[in-house]
Amino acid sequence: MERNGIWWRSEIIYQIYPRSFQDSNNDGIGDLRGIKSRLPYLKDLGIGVVWLSPIFLSPMADFGYDISDYTAIDPKFGTLQDFDDLLNEAHQLGFKLILDLVPNHTSDQHQWFKESRSSRDNPKRDWYIWRDAKSDGSLPNNWLSVFGGPGWEWDSATGQYYYHAFLKEQPDLNWRNPEVQRAMFSVMRYWLERGVDGFRVDVMWHMIKDDMLRDNPVNPDYLPHMATYDSFLPVYSTDQPEVHQVVRKMRDVIDEFPDRMMIGEIYLPISKLVAYYGVDNKGAHLPFNFQLLTLPWDPRKISSVIVEYEAALPSEGWPNWVLGNHDQPRIASRVGLQQARVAALLLLTLRGTPTLYYGDEIGMQDVPIPPGKIVDPQGLNMPDKNLTRDPARTPMPWNNKLNGGFSEVEPWLPLDKNYTRLNVESEYNDPHSMFALYKKLIALRQSSHALIHGNFRMLYSDHQLISYLREAPGHSTFLIVLNFSHRTTLFRSPIEIHGVVEVDTYLDMIGSEVSNFIALRGDEGLVIRLTDK
Ligand code: GLC
Repeated sequence: MERNGIWWRSEIIYQIYPRSFQDSNNDGIGDLRGIKSRLPYLKDLGIGVVWLSPIFLSPMADFGYDISDYTAIDPKFGTLQDFDDLLNEAHQLGFKLILDLVPNHTSDQHQWFKESRSSRDNPKRDWYIWRDAKSDGSLPNNWLSVFGGPGWEWDSATGQYYYHAFLKEQPDLNWRNPEVQRAMFSVMRYWLERGVDGFRVDVMWHMIKDDMLRDNPVNPDYLPHMATYDSFLPVYSTDQPEVHQVVRKMRDVIDEFPDRMMIGEIYLPISKLVAYYGVDNKGAHLPFNFQLLTLPWDPRKISSVIVEYEAALPSEGWPNWVLGNHDQPRIASRVGLQQARVAALLLLTLRGTPTLYYGDEIGMQDVPIPPGKIVDPQGLNMPDKNLTRDPARTPMPWNNKLNGGFSEVEPWLPLDKNYTRLNVESEYNDPHSMFALYKKLIALRQSSHALIHGNFRMLYSDHQLISYLREAPGHSTFLIVLNFSHRTTLFRSPIEIHGVVEVDTYLDMIGSEVSNFIALRGDEGLVIRLTDK
């Protein structure tokens, strides 16, 4: 295994949604001890970095993204001792562990907000974004909450509105206030001193808002099925120039500790996204690239975005790719199980750090949630728009036993009905399973210099195919050919090639020799090691 170079460039990141990975105390909710017990599975899979969605004290209005104490572990997930044990075990096994940092907003139950809302002259009043009503009594501006309704909540006790980009239970902090900055930097130091290897920073592009709070413009492309939030363009409420100063300061805190890193959650077009690498690459190490999550599964669109992204990266900026997360439909539901195998090949052979969402490696699909069981506030607040994120957050099926071995009691969200057939154990023993494919791909990637460090060169793309090369001087070159359709097609290589298949989506071509013309089955993808004739 190649384990050289900077870890966040060479290793694969695996996102765990702690509520749904493994329950150890049978309350139906996953926890830290559960995660610890499953580290050997992750070792076997071959990933190197574990990212945990929030595990901190929280009233759970947004399932942990509403934090009431940044330095306490929520009892549902365990204790600080459990955390230290997990971190220690992860490090022993050679993993890096990164935590979710949620600096844009706190819970309304956080002590800071309780003080802030207690009176207009409380020293923490300015820690949040408070504004008077307009003279006619209306809201301070037209900003909307991502989760539906206005972004402003009236506080009758002190007679002002406060701003919340998400739930009213998630008031936004005022990052223009230096005391807020200092407080959050000390939260970061607390965890870095404990030994965590970095953070995934929640909604980084939201952190600073226009200082004049100007109205957002109407979105001319809004369609009724979209979330109400999308009816305006968040021109003044997000992605302000000053955010880069804040990111830079966060980076300085990270850099006080050796070998740590920071990922930014940023949903922006490529041209704006790359600014988050910062001047001289002193911003986020990896601003999350969500292009594969947000684009239609169309090889023409995807190939052009890959090329655009490669070209837009700053010279030392390291790329990254994501196929799924806890906010988006699962890849296997979005593109189907067969194309999800093509997607796996793509994710693990593009240039840059891949992030894998738990369960995608066994082809987990969105689980339909009956109306009474929906718990995600985004779904509950906009019931007619089918926006609940619960289907992609369901418990991991480990085996065919009760509740898939996730818990002995009814889990907080239902498992997929097919869990007795499709689970980690069954796939482990099936040489053609999605798990087998992921494992082969990961092993190949981690042992191939060109797949980790090599250049990327787009070779050919059309309405069915994408093909590209990964090459590094002195190392094997890889040719990747992906059929994005269910129909057969013929790949005519624009360059002279000869090679051997290392991995293919059907897992029945390994070792076959190929040359200039390759007939592909529907949904077939190949990773080919080029050889001399
Ligand atoms: C991020 C999280 C999402 C959460 C939101 C508000 O987008 O990924 O789950 O609801 O921030 O914190």
